[in-house]
Amino acid sequence: MIRRFIKNNFDKKFLIDEIKKLKEELNAVLLVHYYQEDDIQEIGDFIGDSLQLSQEAAKTQADVIVFAGVHFMAETAKILNPNKKVLIPDLNAGCSLAEGCPAELLQKFKEKYPDHILITYINSTAEVKAISDIICTSSNAEKIVNSIPKSQKIIFAPDKNLGKYISKKTGRDMVLWPGACIVHETFSENKIMKLKLENPEADIIAHPECEENILNISDFIGSTSNLLNYVIKSDKKKFIVVTEPGILHQMRKKCPDKEFIPALPEAGCNCNNCPYMRLNTLEKLYLCMKNRKPEIIINEELRIKALKPIQRMLELS
Ligand code: 13P
Ligand code: SF4
Repeated sequence: MIRRFIKNNFDKKFLIDEIKKLKEELNAVLLVHYYQEDDIQEIGDFIGDSLQLSQEAAKTQADVIVFAGVHFMAETAKILNPNKKVLIPDLNAGCSLAEGCPAELLQKFKEKYPDHILITYINSTAEVKAISDIICTSSNAEKIVNSIPKSQKIIFAPDKNLGKYISKKTGRDMVLWPGACIVHETFSENKIMKLKLENPEADIIAHPECEENILNISDFIGSTSNLLNYVIKSDKKKFIVVTEPGILHQMRKKCPDKEFIPALPEAGCNCNNCPYMRLNTLEKLYLCMKNRKPEIIINEELRIKALKPIQRMLELS
């Protein structure tokens, strides 16, 4: 009993058992992104990339959605489910892409290109979604851009690296908002090439939020779930993985006979761990379910505006 009252000292088994009980009690579904810590991935009802998580949120029958991911993901779930309670373990779990693209500034940017439509990456705030024409994720961005008539000019926000990559793949010349992910911009080409020299048989696989020079040396580029599917299907036995290392847990689980080498930042630091994703812990997950907060709350007028471009994406996906 005593252990329950020692702050920050819950033991893991207690937390896992309580989370399972609370899931039943609340009739909750626990949605988990691949960048969450291993223990959280282990107790999730569904693990996926941004698109899969929003699709799952759109169809869930649960009364409560507990979102172990970052704020824009939980907010998207709330936009799709105004009558459900959406809980997030830490409200400060933001995203550098969302934070680097305030709606007022994007609105001004948009006004400079009145004949363009705005395609927005899901890593954005509800306010930004509300002024967008269509949302995309890293797994459907190419498809979404290709669905727009060739004569229609496009602004792509907020990730310039994903935008540049999609622009190259589709041959569409898009105006790019100058945002980037602080995690994916830390990877060093030199360090990756050194790993490749030491492991010439390994494939380099990267998330499209990485910079162009990294993508140019990659054998495969894809969203978190596409990276996972690639390693499952590949005949190769070794992979240099250029994204947040949370994904390695599922890769190692699904392919125990293969080797996964995480790419590291130039400085040899831990900056490849997303500081926002990692704010969520097993303990905060338990506490948010026990206390029914923090909860995502969104103004109804804003929600309706943000819903439209998300629905357009889901219809096309
Ligand atoms: P995915 O949609 O590939 O899971 O990406 C989400 C994200 O935030 C990557 O940094
Ligand atoms: Fe945002 Fe980058 Fe973290 Fe993904 S990894 S949530 S894009 S800061």
